[in-house]
Amino acid sequence: MQAFIYNGPGRKNVEDRPKPVLAGPGDAIVRITRTTICGTDLHILKGDVATCKPGTILGHEGVGVIDSVGAAVATFKPGDHVLISCISACGRCEPCRKGMTSHCTTGGWILGNEIDGTQAEFVRIPHADTSLYPIPAGADEEALVMLSDILPTGFECGVLNGKVAPGSSVAIVGSGPIGLAALLTAQLYSPAQIIMVDLDDNRLAVGRQFGATDAVNSSAGDAAAQVMALTGGRGVDTAIEAVGIPATFEICQDIVAAGGTIANIGVHGVKADLHLETLWSKNITITTRLVDTVTIPMLLKTVRSARIDARKLITHRFRFDKILDAYETFGRAADTKALKVIIEA
Ligand SMILES: NC(=O)c1ccc[n+]([C@@H]2O[C@H](COP(=O)([O-])OP(=O)(O)OC[C@H]3O[C@@H](n4cnc5c(N)ncnc54)[C@H](O)[C@@H]3O)[C@@H](O)[C@H]2O)c1
Ligand SMILES: [Zn+2]
Ligand SMILES: [Zn+2]
Repeated sequence: MQAFIYNGPGRKNVEDRPKPVLAGPGDAIVRITRTTICGTDLHILKGDVATCKPGTILGHEGVGVIDSVGAAVATFKPGDHVLISCISACGRCEPCRKGMTSHCTTGGWILGNEIDGTQAEFVRIPHADTSLYPIPAGADEEALVMLSDILPTGFECGVLNGKVAPGSSVAIVGSGPIGLAALLTAQLYSPAQIIMVDLDDNRLAVGRQFGATDAVNSSAGDAAAQVMALTGGRGVDTAIEAVGIPATFEICQDIVAAGGTIANIGVHGVKADLHLETLWSKNITITTRLVDTVTIPMLLKTVRSARIDARKLITHRFRFDKILDAYETFGRAADTKALKVIIEA
């Protein structure tokens, strides 16, 4: 089968690989019908993710059809349409029983990282019963690809951890696919104000189309001052960090209101300063989280009912044999205006 391979920093290829086989009784082999590329895949290609070894097939998002299942798989049978979670979860270990599946002792974020991923014709999914979701008949499978990672990430790490509430004020720093997913799901809670912050005017315009009340371009270095002006000097109840660099964590600390929450989503590669000298008296909360994808069933219903239009996040489509072009388009998002690119079998 054809597969997209990380071959070490800066080196990527489409290669012919053997079709995966069942390695344990809880495994399923899924034929991928649609997958996509995540910003995290670009981090891997730069060599930023040490757990991902050269030779790994990338990809942790997608939908497909069950090809075969191990003897212990009870929920799925060949031919079933399934949504793949970016998190593999055994459902039995202590973290899984607490709902913290991202820290599953035999799973977590392993797909397209520690084990071969979804950017191939077939993928092996461990703990299939508790890591796949059935796709209802007639569902828009392309839209559901947004549920493997980005919608649960924006919702769980940003909106739920950030305690977005009716009438509250929210700033989302970073208007990429994850920040926009936080924007779409924050509106389930009817905040009064949602301010998007980014360097890219196109992404800010998309944020406004998706329901943001305000947009702040941070390229002049005065993003915090602009957010303070937009909130009458008060700051925001929820500051969501959706970039993953020290500068944007600084903005969040500057704009969080007394009693507010900084909800970090970004994957940080270097240390960032914590300004306790100003924050010690502000009654704030800082949260971090690796997405657990425990909200997929709920989000699936909101997408199915059109309460959230996940299709809006898709800007480009490619056939699998053009996956290198898909990476090129996704990697130059500022020029191509790419958000999520769908790769079809
Ligand atoms: N916690 C988790 O479980 C989890 C899961 C998935 C992704 N992530 C992380 O979430 C982050 C966002 O993901 P994404 O796919 O949207 O990334 P992305 O790179 O597509 O988007 C980041 C956005 O931040 C903007 N930006 C960069 N520097 C900025 C600055 N100084 N001020 C304002 N905006 C700035 C960019 O223009 C871009 O639009 C990444 O760090 C990703 O690795 C975390
Ligand atoms: Zn991802
Ligand atoms: Zn587990």
